[in-house]
Amino acid sequence: MSALSDDTPPASSDPVGEVIVDWYSRAARDLPWRAPRTGPWAVLVSEVMLQQTPVARVEPVWRAWLERWPTPAALAAASPAEVIRAWGKLGYPRRALRLREAAVALVERHGGVVPAGVAQLEALPGVGTYTARAVSCFGHGRRQPVVDTNVRRVVARLVHGRAEAAPARAADLPDVAALAPEDDARAVRFSVAVMELGALVCVAGTPRCGVCPVRDRCAWRLSGSPASEGPPRRVQKFAGTDRQVRGRLLDVLRAAHEPVEADALVPAWDDAVQRSRCLDSLLVDGLVVQTGDGRFSLPS
Ligand code: ADE
Repeated sequence: MSALSDDTPPASSDPVGEVIVDWYSRAARDLPWRAPRTGPWAVLVSEVMLQQTPVARVEPVWRAWLERWPTPAALAAASPAEVIRAWGKLGYPRRALRLREAAVALVERHGGVVPAGVAQLEALPGVGTYTARAVSCFGHGRRQPVVDTNVRRVVARLVHGRAEAAPARAADLPDVAALAPEDDARAVRFSVAVMELGALVCVAGTPRCGVCPVRDRCAWRLSGSPASEGPPRRVQKFAGTDRQVRGRLLDVLRAAHEPVEADALVPAWDDAVQRSRCLDSLLVDGLVVQTGDGRFSLPS
């Protein structure tokens, strides 16, 4: 009888990154932006949409968006109002404006082509460390460490033996790069595979170690799965937040085809103080504009 529990598989001698890639081939979700012919523009759009929104809500909006704006040049020619409308209910609508600004920058700086280099990508509006590497890797097939929250949690457990990830650190990128297979094509696949492992198996809270392909060499599990030392995770509430109110106000303006009086916004939210604060913040963010006669609309 082994010292480990019955569900522990025999330790494999394959490098851990290879095991994760093999697991991905068996277990990955079939998501449309992972199809082999998805180009870098479609990948960029998917990654921006997926930053704060679940996969199921992103999929229909992503398809409609690419049908309407199949290239950066097409999106660059759209008005802010059109992109805010097309963003629909994905939330965090500043992302829509940033994506349009990125499209304008792609036309101006790169002839309408999405570059493969991380530095050029990171210089685009709304594109940070994660998104730049995701586009370089998934859109252009370049070997890159692509580190989101899920990946940081996998590395915290597998490599460092901690229950939950610390806040983002400079060492995250080399930590992940060190796990990637030698072969470039497998390293690209590894980058999406380790994200998927964090999304489906090595989840926050109670991970599904019973089905984990690398449970036999997980530092956290081998040290007895110690509890997290940090504060308990907070579940983000939505009801009653400024984010909800901003969404309601934008819903009114999306449905209106000409500027509306402030009174037309009252049914969106009863509390006048919160309504006015949220309207101000939408104006500051450039998601709403005020006309000369004091009415409100999406920016044209
Ligand atoms: N595949 C590639 N990037 C992804 C993401 N951000 N979320 C889910 N699946 C992905």
